[in-house]
Amino acid sequence: MPTGWGEVDAWIAEHLIGDDTALGAALARNAAEGLPAIDVSAAQGKLLHVLARSIGAWRILEVGTLGGYSTTWLARALPGHGVLVTLEIDPHHAEVAQANLGAAGVGDKVEIRVGAALQTLSHMEAEGEGPFDLVFIDADKPNNVAYLKAALALARPGGLIVVDNVVREGRVIDAASTDPAVLGTCALFDAVAAEPRLTATAIQTVGAKGWDGFLIAVVDSE
Ligand code: SAH
Ligand code: DHB
Ligand code: MG
Repeated sequence: MPTGWGEVDAWIAEHLIGDDTALGAALARNAAEGLPAIDVSAAQGKLLHVLARSIGAWRILEVGTLGGYSTTWLARALPGHGVLVTLEIDPHHAEVAQANLGAAGVGDKVEIRVGAALQTLSHMEAEGEGPFDLVFIDADKPNNVAYLKAALALARPGGLIVVDNVVREGRVIDAASTDPAVLGTCALFDAVAAEPRLTATAIQTVGAKGWDGFLIAVVDSE
């Protein structure tokens, strides 16, 4: 990571985010429990929070919980009656997330569903769950197109779909790549471009988590 990105993120956090005991404790518990440090950064987590607040989201769906770091940022954006459903395949990650969310005081708003997200999502569609105001996709990248389709089925018109890690140090434009994560992300861009119900952009980010980006799409009314 070039010098400066991490320092500026720390400076941004100092000015606009401050010390956050619960989130600091969550990252410490994640590390102690052997979870990979692939959570969104503090500034990115707060962006998710601001996006959720800006559309008055009260139903949020997340694909990829890890230790619940992004989950906490999103759950804190919810009003009193708000709910967040988050999908995670790894029972140990889910257990650690449950502890972190409880300690952060948002455990009662969040439901962690353990299992392969594709299966959970098709079950949710079959049950007519939702609609969700915001869907945050941040799990196994090869399934990103399938997650996008599910998100479209489960989101309300005017809802937001946000996808993490769509740039990956520029690897997304490497036409020779055989990395399944890169291929999944390229396919995601194609699918979004071909989807008339979505108005979308992608924003590159630099910071504590290196060079990456978010795809952000709004679901149009029919
Ligand atoms: N959103 C988190 C980071 C998620 S990391 C944050 O920013 O704090 C990606 C997570 O997706 C990991 O915990 C991984 O176990 C989970 N995952 C991977 N494949 C999955 C699948 N098929 N279904 C559900 N979760 C999956
Ligand atoms: C990876 C996954 C993520 O969601 C992320 O934000 C960073 C890295 C990964 O699988 O390597
Ligand atoms: Mg991610």
